[in-house]
Amino acid sequence: MYVTCDWLFYYVGNINVQHSFSIYRMIGHADVTSFSIRFIARLLAMGLLLCSTELMSAQEVDSVVPETHFPNTDFETKALNMEFHAKKREDLRSIMPENSVAIVFSNSIKNRSNDVDFEFHQNPNFFYLTGLNEPHAMLVVFKEEQRIESFDSKEILFIQPRDSMKEIWSGKTMGVDRARELLGVKYVFGSGMFTEFDFDFYKFDKVFYTVDHTSITDDVNNRRDLFSLKKHFVQMLDTTKRNVDLYMLREFMATLREVKEPEEVALLRKAIEITCGAQHDLMAKLNPGMYEYEAEAIIEYAFKFQGAESPGFPSIIGGGKNSCILHYTSNRDELKDGDLLVVDIGAEYHNYSADITRTFPVNGKFTEEQKIIYQIVLDAQVAGIAACQKGNKFWAPNEVATKIIIRGLVENRVIKKRMDYRKYFMHGTSHYLGLDVHDIGLNGSLAPGNVLTVEPGIYIPKGSDCDPKWWNIGIRIEDDILITEDGHEILSDCIPKTIIEIEYLMAK
Ligand code: GLY
Ligand code: MN
Repeated sequence: MYVTCDWLFYYVGNINVQHSFSIYRMIGHADVTSFSIRFIARLLAMGLLLCSTELMSAQEVDSVVPETHFPNTDFETKALNMEFHAKKREDLRSIMPENSVAIVFSNSIKNRSNDVDFEFHQNPNFFYLTGLNEPHAMLVVFKEEQRIESFDSKEILFIQPRDSMKEIWSGKTMGVDRARELLGVKYVFGSGMFTEFDFDFYKFDKVFYTVDHTSITDDVNNRRDLFSLKKHFVQMLDTTKRNVDLYMLREFMATLREVKEPEEVALLRKAIEITCGAQHDLMAKLNPGMYEYEAEAIIEYAFKFQGAESPGFPSIIGGGKNSCILHYTSNRDELKDGDLLVVDIGAEYHNYSADITRTFPVNGKFTEEQKIIYQIVLDAQVAGIAACQKGNKFWAPNEVATKIIIRGLVENRVIKKRMDYRKYFMHGTSHYLGLDVHDIGLNGSLAPGNVLTVEPGIYIPKGSDCDPKWWNIGIRIEDDILITEDGHEILSDCIPKTIIEIEYLMAK
């Protein structure tokens, strides 16, 4: 029995206090009272609804609460159609060896604190193979059709069953029946059903499974679903048995995911276009005296306003000394006249993430020293991009870019010995891009359909062993490159990167 009534009215009071505070900061005191009254009224109405629907079934709730009350009625399945995901399951099957099975879990919900969870983010492998953006699910892919209980199938999906009480709070979930229709998997069962099946995993020559970062105990608020699925699976599976393989599934998925289908490139293009728009907005609005978090707000406003669901990774907005911190994400400092700003950002659109870095002067004009280092990084990046050709090694862009950076640092006497370049350029130039910002791939030879970044940088923090005129210059330039049959396409060409272009844009 759900105990919402007393609890909810207690909670209403708490929410009101906290909410009034943040609203107060946003809109001023005059509006708080009326907002709070409306807010309380809405919650009270919701409380009454809850009390009266405690024992209703999902169907009954559907008929009482209009469809429009649910924010996610299309379940995000429009991103890629079900044929795409079905083909990916078929592709996986085609590279699995005879008599094998692969198990892929969804991500679990991570608790943030008390009764608040982190925003859910799907396991990219699970999304790639199903199109489902929900927790508490497990996909089983067999190489050959199997007889299970009374049916024959090459795949089974277990997902969270619909729960009318949860749906009132968090919106509609797909449910077993709709999953059959919307995901195109014939045999879908509620997650609780997993224990009902008499799986004999030891009859297979190989059981492929990845021990992911999601521990089974993470899911404290939702134990009965993913927790039990994983617990039962892990208990069922003795990983010391010779047929259990914890490595190859990652290789299989990297083999598939490193080559993007046209519809994936279309989603990447959209994520990149949104990210270019955000870079443009910031260049147009940036002024000395602004704070890094204000710049971050301009970027992330532009992401959401253009339809991106979220950033694909925490936005890196580092001015002055912070431009020398590779993954700086606190974004709290003031942006000062004469400083550089590194803006390494990527919108995530329908699970696919962009990743574009531009570095520009806070006041719109590069100093002479900044120009020199900037031009070295830009020359290295342009040469790296030129090496993005099918058949070249994945690390070819890194090799050519590094040579140019070494030459530039030596010529300008920033370093004396060539090997000292590592002090100022301490990362590689490239990673694949896709469902993960650092997407999985085999790092072999480049092939059409690969999407990778080229992002050299030079970072000279204060106190470095060189002329102080170079100190606090941190520069990274990053583009997203699609390998094609006859060369490459710079997908992120939508935002300029030469000194002249940047100064022109920022002067307007
Ligand atoms: N966008 C951050 C990185 O590529 O490491
Ligand atoms: Mn990157």
